[in-house]
Amino acid sequence: MADNDASAKNIPSNKNNAPSVNEIETSIDSLARKVQESFSLKKRHKFWETQPVCQFKDLGDTRLPEGPIEQPTPLSEVKQEPYNLPPPYELVTCDLDSEEVCSEVYTLLTNNYIDYNDNMFRFNYSKEFLRWALRPPGYFRSWHIGLRVKTSKKLVAFITGIPAKIRVRDAVVLLAEVNFLCVHKKLQSRSLAPVMIKELSRRVRLENVWQAAYTAAAVLPTPITTFMFWHRSLNPKKLIDVGFCRLGAWTMSEFINFYKLPEQTTTPGFRKMEPHDVPAVTRLLRNYLKQFVVAPDFDKNDVEHWLLPKEDVIDAYLVESPESHEITDLCSFYTISCSIHGSQNHSILKGAYSYHYAFHNNSVIS
Ligand SMILES: CC(C)(COP(=O)(O)OP(=O)(O)OC[C@H]1O[C@@H](n2cnc3c(N)ncnc32)[C@H](O)[C@@H]1OP(=O)(O)O)[C@@H](O)C(=O)NCCC(=O)NCCS
Repeated sequence: MADNDASAKNIPSNKNNAPSVNEIETSIDSLARKVQESFSLKKRHKFWETQPVCQFKDLGDTRLPEGPIEQPTPLSEVKQEPYNLPPPYELVTCDLDSEEVCSEVYTLLTNNYIDYNDNMFRFNYSKEFLRWALRPPGYFRSWHIGLRVKTSKKLVAFITGIPAKIRVRDAVVLLAEVNFLCVHKKLQSRSLAPVMIKELSRRVRLENVWQAAYTAAAVLPTPITTFMFWHRSLNPKKLIDVGFCRLGAWTMSEFINFYKLPEQTTTPGFRKMEPHDVPAVTRLLRNYLKQFVVAPDFDKNDVEHWLLPKEDVIDAYLVESPESHEITDLCSFYTISCSIHGSQNHSILKGAYSYHYAFHNNSVIS
């Protein structure tokens, strides 16, 4: 998958409303064009061209059968030893239960993991967030891989996988969701990323898992979908102060008023999700997700882990019908902070990222 940050587009360009249909269509068109262009650029992908992934040249080839590109092999044929690395480095498993290791991972990511808006912001995933994101039901510790400098033991690269059951049409596939690929800024462009990816693939196969999914900002061979972030300002003044938004033709008070939120929700029965809601939310979500060709196959344990609120990590709200007490709607968001570079007044920007939602056909959150 390829992602695209529309933060530059988060400012309504007219005073009537957030982006017009035309603006949305234009940005989707331009995104589609970008993807098309990168397919036709004939850019070589020295690493990805050697991997069992769909290649750009295969796009639209209807003769290709649906199903895995490579069939699973007997586990005894999976490479048993870790991949070779340049001599100064060693591969390690990162035990996130250990406070010390979790702090090392946090520090590596905080200093090196994804800058955006001309390097004014960098993700700052909290340790609690990392533990939530990386230890779902049935997770494998061996899929949390670090790269250390042998002599100093400094952690300089990281990659993770977590197991996920994903329904593709009618088949449920167990796959590895890959995330948090990061190489220390000073060691980038030395082909360490491919070694990390290959080592993770090897460990994934050792657990008898043969498929994986990941997201990337670059268009690599070959996305199954693309997506774009749209922003809704919650603290407009701060966002202007730190340079995340621009005022353009607006005055500050117009901008603040435009984004002002009502004091109270207007939806009767809207409340925070609680542990006893897990079975009803699981039913609602499973039912809602049926309409998609590719969707997570959540059971109660997954819903408990991924949706039950955890302070500053994950929040979920639902609508309980005041009459029938049925759970009719769900929305959720996770929280990631960013460090802000170059602002005198603020060092952290908190973002709420829309996550799973679901509703019965006859009910809509207002
Ligand atoms: C992404 C990152 C690990 C790549 O490391 P690097 O040292 O620049 O890249 P390397 O020289 O080791 O390897 C390049 C290969 O890795 C691939 N690669 C780079 N980023 C990738 C990603 N996010 N997912 C999958 N493959 C990726 C490249 O496509 C290239 O392979 P190709 O020639 O077949 O196209 C590094 O730039 C980084 O840590 N960036 C900040 C964090 C980040 O953006 N992580 C990715 C989140 S989507």
